[in-house]
Amino acid sequence: MSADTSAITRRDPSPISGNAIMRVGPVNPTVAKALVDDYDALVLPEPGAAREEFLTEHGESIRVAVCSGKIGVDTDLMKRLPNLEAIVNFGVGYDATDVAQATERNIPISNTPDVLTDCVADTALGLYLDTLRSLSAAERFVRAGTWATGANFPLATRASGKRVGILGLGRIGAAIAKRLEAFGCEIHYHNRSEINGSAYTYHPSAAALAAATDVLIVAAAGGPASAGLVDATVLEAIGPKGFLINIARGSVVDEPALVAALQNGGIAGAGLDVFASEPHVPEELLALDNVVLLPHLGSGTHETRADMAELTLNNLRSYVESGELVTPVS
Ligand code: 8YV
Repeated sequence: MSADTSAITRRDPSPISGNAIMRVGPVNPTVAKALVDDYDALVLPEPGAAREEFLTEHGESIRVAVCSGKIGVDTDLMKRLPNLEAIVNFGVGYDATDVAQATERNIPISNTPDVLTDCVADTALGLYLDTLRSLSAAERFVRAGTWATGANFPLATRASGKRVGILGLGRIGAAIAKRLEAFGCEIHYHNRSEINGSAYTYHPSAAALAAATDVLIVAAAGGPASAGLVDATVLEAIGPKGFLINIARGSVVDEPALVAALQNGGIAGAGLDVFASEPHVPEELLALDNVVLLPHLGSGTHETRADMAELTLNNLRSYVESGELVTPVS
């Protein structure tokens, strides 16, 4: 008896079997296990001869790719998958995937919005407080025994009541703004267009936002549209007393320009959860005490990663069963 495919909306309504699903790069352990246990999915080998062989053998049969926000389906890989129908992405950001090619080929992508908003916003607040109040540097001062010598730790910068600019007032940016309101901060923002009815002050460019505020927090999506948005001009507008916080993507900031600004006092300090070429952190940043460096842990809690895994698997199951993604990116 053949299966009833009348409710299936995908362009190829035939059932999706294990060798039509492929994992790209490392993914969350729960997702990786379910891919094997529930779907018998294939795993794309690391770049090299084994990958070439794999793609020659399986490239044409792959219909769904499951990836992470860190290693997506890039331009060359997507070209090797002529029958790819859908991309299921673990993470809210999907800039490692060639979105332009996916759009052109009508390949929908799902991500994991909302479930990680609170944790990423909490991380931004942690970085904000740590950077302005020099908490990590102060902790190093205690551990190094410097306090015990009788020395005083240098004064820091007040965190409450600041004018804060949010670059990218989306779900995560709004959650950061809400938290900062509790600290008595005045919220400003820049998006491609002004948000109707927003209580916050809009600025038409990143540089104008930086010039009007004490701290610039980057919460914009990565990808070609935002690449290098925080450049030398924006850093100059942040100024010697201003701070930069980035919990979005390293690509949004011109990293060499940031290093220079931090080294020559162009800005007062920075709190960074993301970098241009992770997990590489520029040596120059490691040597500076006015920078807080985190290993891209914005969403890294047991609870949130479990929620992200569940949503990722819901997207996959729904696509396999009906051809519909639960949380497609717009
Ligand atoms: C994820 C992130 O952990 O969701 C995102 O966009 O940056 C992180 O929270 C990461 O992308 C998972 O690969």
